[in-house]
Amino acid sequence: MNLPPFLLDHWLAAHEFATPPIRYNLAASTGPKWSVDELLALGGGRDIGGVKIGYAPPEGGKRVREALGGFLGVDPDWVVVTTGASEALLIVLCLVARPGANIVLPTPAFSPFAAMADAWGLGVNSYPLQREEGFRQSAEAILVATDDDTALVLVNTPHNPTGAVMPPGEIEALAQKLGERGVPLVVDEVYHPLYFGRQSPTAASVPNAIVMGDMSKALSLAGLRTGWLIIADPELRKRAIDARSYFTISSSPVLEELAAHALDNHEVLLDRLVAVASANRAALSAVMERVSDTVAWAEPEGGTVAFPWFKDGRDSRPFCQALAAAGVLVAPGDCFGSPEHFRVGFAAQAEGFGDALAIFERTLRG
Ligand SMILES: Cc1ncc(COP(=O)(O)O)c(C=O)c1O
Repeated sequence: MNLPPFLLDHWLAAHEFATPPIRYNLAASTGPKWSVDELLALGGGRDIGGVKIGYAPPEGGKRVREALGGFLGVDPDWVVVTTGASEALLIVLCLVARPGANIVLPTPAFSPFAAMADAWGLGVNSYPLQREEGFRQSAEAILVATDDDTALVLVNTPHNPTGAVMPPGEIEALAQKLGERGVPLVVDEVYHPLYFGRQSPTAASVPNAIVMGDMSKALSLAGLRTGWLIIADPELRKRAIDARSYFTISSSPVLEELAAHALDNHEVLLDRLVAVASANRAALSAVMERVSDTVAWAEPEGGTVAFPWFKDGRDSRPFCQALAAAGVLVAPGDCFGSPEHFRVGFAAQAEGFGDALAIFERTLRG
């Protein structure tokens, strides 16, 4: 099997992990980084020296599942811990894969959705997010992309790479309509609960919805490689846990303990993210206003990224390369199949964001 090149990771690896690394990384979709010491010091301090380094249970340890149940307001029994949302994606695709079936996905989107569906032999039916409509995801438009062979529908909210938020009412309507046809709805909410307007509830309790989430994005702990599936249906959950046993056996109990401790202190993690993301989004918004002769955007309603585009339709990659040479990394839109766009991450660092935007504006003006 030939997987397509993972263009975003190639781009990030060439700059973020270079020696020396890029000065300002505005290509990342994560929040401000925490060190192990900073994390362990939260909540009066936690010593993880006693954690035994064996296997964790295939569904995840009780402590982290209880912490997740509390965080999302669901029964801890519904929680299946995974190695990032990346493994959660593989599991749900594996559960629905059958000859001739298709999955319905947004476009643009996080590239593994389509690549992994294809790898499992699933056809891909796309529903386009229209930039003129603020990249809105509506139940009605998504249902148009379904057919009798649809085995799964996936929505991502807040959405990567656009920052669009699907209204809770639309998610409920979609889940219900699909439920009548026996088709599950997967809601990838790795950027939940980072919203800039009205707060949205998690879809974890919506009937017929399977939620995918992680510690990587809103909780700013990508290196914990801890994600989850929330599955209310006991039979489906049992199959998901089996799939998990085949894929990775278990998580690391050390990382599970760190994740549980982080969830116990989630307010502190979220406060820092919200402070950085809100201030940077406002600064980005001011720049977007100033460069609106050349570049358009839909202001993100949630999450950590925005997806502006060149009004004249030019390929953004040469601009992204020039910008990287000047010390600022944004991600070319071709990583998401939309070459005239580029993705700007605005939540990873407070320090220097203004300098990075000044370089951005200068480079854009040529
Ligand atoms: C929408 C979306 N889903 C899932 C993932 C996977 O993240 P992780 O495996 O770190 O949980 C990402 C990462 O960028 C993402 O943007």
